[in-house]
Amino acid sequence: MRNLTEEIKNFRFDRLPKDLQKSLSTIYNSEKSVENPLKVNAIHQGDAAKLLKRIEPNSIAVSVWSPPYFVGKNYEKHLTFEGWKNLLKSVIANHFPIIKPGGFLVINIADILVFKDENMPKIQADAVHRKKISLSKEDILNILAENPTMNRNELAKHFKCSEQTIDRRLNGNNVRGGKHETQSRVKIIGGLVEDWALEAGFYPYDRRIWVKDAAWENSRWASLSYRAVDEFEYIYIFWKPGIIKYDRNRLSNDDWKNWGSRGVWQFPSVRANDDHEAKFPVELPTRVIKLLSDEKEIVLDCFMGSGTTAIAAIRENRNYIGIELDPEYVKLSKINILKETGINPIITFNAN
Ligand SMILES: C[S@@+](CC[C@H](N)C(=O)[O-])C[C@H]1O[C@@H](n2cnc3c(N)ncnc32)[C@H](O)[C@@H]1O
Repeated sequence: MRNLTEEIKNFRFDRLPKDLQKSLSTIYNSEKSVENPLKVNAIHQGDAAKLLKRIEPNSIAVSVWSPPYFVGKNYEKHLTFEGWKNLLKSVIANHFPIIKPGGFLVINIADILVFKDENMPKIQADAVHRKKISLSKEDILNILAENPTMNRNELAKHFKCSEQTIDRRLNGNNVRGGKHETQSRVKIIGGLVEDWALEAGFYPYDRRIWVKDAAWENSRWASLSYRAVDEFEYIYIFWKPGIIKYDRNRLSNDDWKNWGSRGVWQFPSVRANDDHEAKFPVELPTRVIKLLSDEKEIVLDCFMGSGTTAIAAIRENRNYIGIELDPEYVKLSKINILKETGINPIITFNAN
């Protein structure tokens, strides 16, 4: 075997059952080493889709990240929906060679709750609770069925309301909302991510829900709809074929009971997004790292933002590689990592 990390070199591939040796041979026999590989314990400025190609094959125990969600944040404004999909697809594909056999790719993402859809029929809401007179179109039609010759004036007298109210109810022109604007709907993202991961060679291994703070202030549709407020995200876990090291001692009994074995994780969002628009709480990468890697192994975050995953990795005695496109966020990561861990990380700037 060539160019493999120490641990994989020591792995007794020849002791595996013959059929496994056959099916895993292409994965355990890695291709050539990369030129000018990204340094470990450093934050690298540049495009994830490009820089991932400069990570040593089979070197990453777990990669955990939260990408742009395509919800209009400043750092994703330049992306069309197609461009966003291409970014995620290529980032996932470029993970396959660099994750250790038996290692994991963990993606924290959410559905897009306000996704503009030009082709969607207008949803119009008949806000019944707002009507001063509780008169429906059906009420009028029932009377008209019995008295087909009644005109608007007579109907208004019968219902003790104005002719205008009769007209609004009959012609539906009291219906509010979305008459002119492009409609928006929910865009479910899980299926896309699953397809991109499968195409890359990964397999879905697990999925969890992170229950965060309810974002009431962002709930633009709350007044005229039955939609729920934004209050959870997904954590999708993908496995690269290979032997998983299963170690029950990675967590205490309490941790296994409280979150290690649980499908729903509940902890608050970052309350002060004052230095970065969309940080995840350090609890999220900390749990992933403790569950799916060992001390000294390398953790990757290729959408590093404010440095959260690096902070979690350092606190848990792991090594890390960070990638981030925005030079200002690279500098912010450096400041945050130094402040939170006392360690001053290397940063590199790369041409995009
Ligand atoms: C949701 S945020 C990640 C926040 C991070 N988890 C934290 O806690 O601070 C996504 C990040 O991806 C960065 N980004 C966007 N496009 C990128 C690309 N092509 N390559 C690398 N980073 C990118 C953005 O600048 C942003 O900081």
